[in-house]
Amino acid sequence: MNKVALLFIAISIFGQVLAQNGLLHNAYNRPSASLNGNWKFVVDPYETGYRNHRNWAPFDQAKSTKNSAKPYYTDKVIKERWDRVEYNFNNSDEIKVPGDWNSQDRMLLYYEGSIWYRTTFDYDLKDKNRLFLYFGAANYQTDVYVNGQKAGQHSGGFDPFNFDITAFVKPKNNSLVVRVDNRREKDRVPNYTTDWWNYGGITRGVKLMEVPPVYIQDYFIQLDKNSPGQIKGYVQLRNATSKRKVNIAIPEAGINETITTDDNGRASFIFSAKKIKKWYPERPKLYNVTVSAGTDLLHDQIGFRTIETKGADILLNGKSIFLRGISLHEENPKSMSRAHSMDDAQMLMGWAKELNCNFIRLAHYPHNENMPRLADEMGLLLWEEIPVYWGIDYENPAAFNQAKSQLETLVHRDKNRASVIVWSVANETPDVPSRLAFLRQLKDIATGIDNTRFVSAALERDEKDIQNVVKIPDPFAGDVDMLSCNEYIGWYSGLPDKCDKVTWQLPSDKPFFVSEFGGGALYNHHGDSLTRWTEEYQAYLYREQIKMLKKIPTLRGMTPWILADFRSPRRNLPIIQDGWNRKGLISDNGFKKQAFYILKAFYDEMEKRYSYKIND
Ligand code: GCU
Repeated sequence: MNKVALLFIAISIFGQVLAQNGLLHNAYNRPSASLNGNWKFVVDPYETGYRNHRNWAPFDQAKSTKNSAKPYYTDKVIKERWDRVEYNFNNSDEIKVPGDWNSQDRMLLYYEGSIWYRTTFDYDLKDKNRLFLYFGAANYQTDVYVNGQKAGQHSGGFDPFNFDITAFVKPKNNSLVVRVDNRREKDRVPNYTTDWWNYGGITRGVKLMEVPPVYIQDYFIQLDKNSPGQIKGYVQLRNATSKRKVNIAIPEAGINETITTDDNGRASFIFSAKKIKKWYPERPKLYNVTVSAGTDLLHDQIGFRTIETKGADILLNGKSIFLRGISLHEENPKSMSRAHSMDDAQMLMGWAKELNCNFIRLAHYPHNENMPRLADEMGLLLWEEIPVYWGIDYENPAAFNQAKSQLETLVHRDKNRASVIVWSVANETPDVPSRLAFLRQLKDIATGIDNTRFVSAALERDEKDIQNVVKIPDPFAGDVDMLSCNEYIGWYSGLPDKCDKVTWQLPSDKPFFVSEFGGGALYNHHGDSLTRWTEEYQAYLYREQIKMLKKIPTLRGMTPWILADFRSPRRNLPIIQDGWNRKGLISDNGFKKQAFYILKAFYDEMEKRYSYKIND
């Protein structure tokens, strides 16, 4: 076999080994060393860092993804006075990690391209242990080099990833160079157009996690959906080549069980859970859970509940509920930046609680892990989703693989969170055959990992009907557990008085959920209720929308669009928008508009109407 073929095989096996690391479950609680802080950076719009600087051939992104590609921007420093090196990380500017680059430097507000980051670290790795480098997320494509060696590449803007860097790391002065490219590309998910700011960079935390030779890779510990009196799940070890003992303890529930894995490190279990107090929004009971195997020990905080539909009802622990929700983007409107911290999460969820919400739609992509963790504690149910948004390249396997990878990571990351009840696989996607096949495969992927939660999507509705009959003719409607759609009657479709003229034609045997409605208003801009962009118009629209939706017998919830004004390059009406989508109930400075109180009054009413006693 010739050398080139051998090299190709070597690279592809090496690439697969890198890919096989798999996400370390519960990285949130695993002991770690943070690499957050000020990193050096070089802006690289011409991809100098990727190509040989004498090679003027058109830049080929595909070729550049080879794991063996040596970066141009490494840690070369000038040794002799005649050396020619046209960059120097040591003297470069600094940028905060985590944090998008757009909000950290006015020159980068609209930047779409590559930026190279560099930090250094020491690490004394115990003999035979493995060291993982973990990113909460980076938007969109990330190449990671440790001491000049390619550790791996990740594509996806909102999903965590990690690489095993054991082979590259030394005790002192490790150089970590990371390239992030936030371009919108045809085969990416999302691709060219979104109604949100394309914040680029290392947007969430970076940390090192050391694990023993055989370690806990993954586990699932939830109530058995078919038998709520028991806890069902599995533990998966990595690198086990023989049967191993695993201990699962939930002391407050009187559970302390040792189980034995198979030769591949996997063990399934069912425990009696008679003493478990169920998780409710009104009583978000979390249990301390430990999972241990050999010298590896993980702590977690898990709530136990069931969620199901029965006809048009949504049953939480068997009790009929109404999802008093709101949509929100992962953005801190005050700092005009990607939200990533627990403080950001507390601000956003605090506003939702003031609205008397028990539900939040984390639009339109996986949010940072502080959100589901805080929702577990605060008693907020969640809709989580991947950015299969508008016009994806549905016929392109590369685009499908992006969506698949992001969905698998999201479901695996949050499958033990009581707050999460919906996995959504699409938002306003065109009704073409390739899209239906694409979504059906995604649904199977989600339920294959976790069949205890709902699968949904913001479906297409038809309101062009001249008799003002609104239907949801979307062929995917038969596949989802909760019939959801966005509708903008009174904003994009007619004026608010149209709400009183339409009738909804919906199936009677499935819960109906409005995943978006709303309209824009500039805070403190006033006029009569038909003057668009005034608070009065938005308030009028909310009153008419609520009157209309209350009439729908199968309505079981809503997440109006949106909690707070958010940044969008598509919204450029001077003085009113100025690069902001103004549909928020709260302004970019955190002030509540009139419509906030109209929605809250409705939620106070629904809270009373759907009240229940908690006795389990
Ligand atoms: C769409 C879309 C949102 C968008 C909203 C709007 O429904 O899902 O992402 O921001 O409408 O037009 O404001």
